[in-house]
Amino acid sequence: MKTIDISYKDYKKRDDIHGTALYPAVMVGPAQKDILLDLIDKDRHTKIIDPFHGSGTALYEAATISSKVSLIGYDINPFANLIAKVKLQGIDLSSIKSDIIHLAEHIKQIDEIEMHIFPNSTKWFREDIIRDLTKVRLSIMQTENKRNRLYFWYIMSDVIRKHSNTRSSTYKLHSKKEDDISRIQNQVIELFLENVEAHYQKFSNGYDNFQLKKGNSLDLLRENSDNEFDICITSPPYGDNATTVTYGQFSMLPLNWIDRKDLDLEDWEYENYSVIDSKSMGGCMSNDSPNSQEEIKELLNSIPNAMQKKVIKFFNDYFYALDEISRVTKKYIIMTLGHRIVGGKQIELTDITMNALSKKGFGLELQLEREIFSKRTPRILAYKDGQPISSMNKEYVIIMKKI
Ligand SMILES: C[S@@+](CC[C@H](N)C(=O)[O-])C[C@H]1O[C@@H](n2cnc3c(N)ncnc32)[C@H](O)[C@@H]1O
Repeated sequence: MKTIDISYKDYKKRDDIHGTALYPAVMVGPAQKDILLDLIDKDRHTKIIDPFHGSGTALYEAATISSKVSLIGYDINPFANLIAKVKLQGIDLSSIKSDIIHLAEHIKQIDEIEMHIFPNSTKWFREDIIRDLTKVRLSIMQTENKRNRLYFWYIMSDVIRKHSNTRSSTYKLHSKKEDDISRIQNQVIELFLENVEAHYQKFSNGYDNFQLKKGNSLDLLRENSDNEFDICITSPPYGDNATTVTYGQFSMLPLNWIDRKDLDLEDWEYENYSVIDSKSMGGCMSNDSPNSQEEIKELLNSIPNAMQKKVIKFFNDYFYALDEISRVTKKYIIMTLGHRIVGGKQIELTDITMNALSKKGFGLELQLEREIFSKRTPRILAYKDGQPISSMNKEYVIIMKKI
């Protein structure tokens, strides 16, 4: 396989579909497409899985390459499930214009409303914003066409985030200062209607041959037979969510506004604001990988005792996922990975992953890297012995081929 430049320094998500709703730690769409272009044979049926699909970047890009791909995706987070579904299935072009007209009329006509409430709703939103978001919510619920309704929830999710009292500097829920809250400009209705109109054409090429399942992929992967997929393309979490990227906490505000009937739920997601993160990979020891501690013995010896437990928990799940991914994949595994720092020690997830997959009969075909330009992860985390400890400023892609 020839090497590929995936730096995409000037790439702006806002120019394509991936910038229409925010989700944490997403892949760079065109970079994933460049890789897949080399691996998908357009004349043949190709079955592809992403067991940690997040916002659906890789699955969406695969669908733009060939109409002969069938796509399977898993994610434990119902918000990720909604985002990926809307990108893949798109809108109903025959009725979107009239649905947008009805939506705008309904929002303007609503007068007396019962405010939508949920736990801590007044902590995370100002009262005038709750009133306007309630109007938008009630109006979306009037839309009969399901594809279009889900597209409206999708667009609303970004408006919710921009009008909430949580800081934009972190994916964790962390209240802004009183002054900053009072300065939020209430543009809920204008921004929602403007974005619905501005983006719908990006969703006009719906794709049908996909199936997304909401759930724990460590369980869902077991449902697949050996060598069922030609390609597994994914970006798993790089550590436990609670101390790496809190996908769950980030999603709780939109999840509390979206009508539960339109979400794929297992019934525990609203127990508290951190439950999705604690049920995610590395949060609870759900599966046993007997050799996992042996595989990371040297790493464990190099980090403080107090931090070893969370690393053990994460790798227990991670190795289990790698075992299952290598079992169900017939040809290529493509993984986008980051190297997080724990107790001042960088975890070389790329080497650990390549080593584990090589024991399962996969050889390295290509390794790529790119700089991450993110405002939410500081470039320097801390200083140790006067030396800067940098956070994840690079991401790595490994392409492994079954031998
Ligand atoms: C790095 S993100 C994937 C981002 C995605 N590649 C994109 O471009 O949007 C990792 C995803 O794994 C999901 N996740 C974590 N633990 C999981 C589990 N046990 N089962 C299924 N999904 C899980 C998270 O909810 C998150 O969406």
